Amino acid sequence: HRPIQRLLSCPGTVAADLKKEDQPSGNVETGSEDRILQKRFSEVQKERREQAQRTVLINCPDKMSEKKFLKYLSQHGPIKNHFFYENFGLHAVIEFCQKESVASLQDAACTPSLRREAAIPFRSRFFNLKLKNPLNQTSEQSSIQCCNQSPPSSKKLFELLCYADSIDDQLNTLLKEFQITEENAKLRHLTCSLIEDIAAAYFPYCTIRPFGSSVNSFGKLGCDLDMFLDLDETERLASQKTSGNFLMEFQVKNVSSERIATQKILSVIGECLDHFGPGCVGVQKILNARCPLVRFSQQTSGFQCDLTTNNRIALKSTELLYLYGALDSRVRALVFSVRCWARAHSLTSSIPGAWITNFSLTMMVIFFLQRRSPPVLPTLDYLKNLADTEDKCIIEGHNCTFTTDLNRIESSGNTETLELLLKEFFEYFGNFAFNKNSINIRQGREQNKPESSPLHIQNPFETSLNISKNVNQSQLQKFVDLARESAWILQQEDKDHPSPSSNQPWGLAALLLPSVSNGKSLAKRKKLASERVKNLLESIKSNNVENSINTNGK
Ligand code: CTP
Ligand code: MG
Repeated sequence: HRPIQRLLSCPGTVAADLKKEDQPSGNVETGSEDRILQKRFSEVQKERREQAQRTVLINCPDKMSEKKFLKYLSQHGPIKNHFFYENFGLHAVIEFCQKESVASLQDAACTPSLRREAAIPFRSRFFNLKLKNPLNQTSEQSSIQCCNQSPPSSKKLFELLCYADSIDDQLNTLLKEFQITEENAKLRHLTCSLIEDIAAAYFPYCTIRPFGSSVNSFGKLGCDLDMFLDLDETERLASQKTSGNFLMEFQVKNVSSERIATQKILSVIGECLDHFGPGCVGVQKILNARCPLVRFSQQTSGFQCDLTTNNRIALKSTELLYLYGALDSRVRALVFSVRCWARAHSLTSSIPGAWITNFSLTMMVIFFLQRRSPPVLPTLDYLKNLADTEDKCIIEGHNCTFTTDLNRIESSGNTETLELLLKEFFEYFGNFAFNKNSINIRQGREQNKPESSPLHIQNPFETSLNISKNVNQSQLQKFVDLARESAWILQQEDKDHPSPSSNQPWGLAALLLPSVSNGKSLAKRKKLASERVKNLLESIKSNNVENSINTNGK
């Protein structure tokens, strides 16, 4: 395969993650200077993980001198990067150049002696900085810049969208404002790394890997943090030593099924987090779910976390989504807008239920982009055909193979604008035969529905599963109605050509903020629409009367 030149026009973190900075920029084959090789998902994750291992989290006093603080910390070694954020107090994320600096700081830190509570001597990477002489001279207090960890308010978004130049500009603005920032990405990886320290007390060679929207490039600021407890390294180490005379007792303690093993593992980790996990609160063990999990909130970082194990396929679907997100800069802009649109109309919710999920919406956008002519995105079967031996991946009997090398995939010949794609998305799904067809990104075409769920989206790897099995008919209907209405609104825009700089919500703003847009809710708009029809009928009637009067008069 001829490597493809794909310029990274997508803004933000993914672009930063993807670029192979240490690669020569010239291309010998083509003589081109601007070729940028793109990193694989696994390479990005490896770098992020290593970075997180050199990082600590420090709760700081509100008033301090940043310069002195950094100088004080650099006793333990040079600092590569740092940032501050606010979350019930000021926090600093400090990335040292070397891992040894973390141990040095840990050695220097003292365990708090509390009068009423007993401290647990767990060597964590969370620190509390207590200044013996709190600063009082204003000259020393340089104001500390905090990185924002939450999405913009509806008001701010509304303003930004109204002042954009075009609908395409609006979609890109929304992406820029909502996507996970570099700092937020670091904090997510750091949180996983800190949880790994705790889990490693039981499973020394475990890895906690982030998956889902935190790393698939479709995450919004504020989205949950899905974590996967990976014990494969433990198993791999064990399987290497099959010839010895000793079998380690703990690795052969038999339970009757994989599921029970998963439940037991998560149960002890859940206890551990509850009792010893710094900042871990509200620990819930949800072990009877189809995919058992431990849910908790990590207060210091502010993330709602879902910890699972043995759902390795979800890691593969995360990687697949990442690949699709990186292939064309329009994909993420479209997915973010559709996700925000769905959230604004309560089609999605943070509470589990019969609603459509963000994951399903993303699949729908990918499918839609595969259906364009020419396609914006290739099918999963095509990506499978591009795979080489290294990419081969079979999990629990399911073939999860696809190329992990972005540079092998041809750029799309499709040049449609975001505005057109968004409108067409709503039209496409506003008229989709959900009653008989299933959405299938593997083949990139509709398939007959194998079962009667209202919405059927085939799981790309576990092909007998429907990822939207939870969605009921009324939620699907709501989605269809809103899609139709949104297509209609965008068509009207085409005709009306509202002036972009006007204060009136237009384009994406009109779609996202129905309650703000002239205070019209869907119900109100329906009423207005029916009034419009009534008026039209009235005017036809009166025209007829007038006509008949006129005719009679003649
Ligand atoms: N997943 C899956 N099948 C499902 C639901 C989820 O394979 N029926 C996997 C997907 O890889 C998904 C991940 O689990 O990305 C995390 O699920 P979830 O948190 O529900 O979705 P996210 O993609 O993370 O989106 P959100 O921002 O809403 O959390
Ligand atoms: Mg998630």
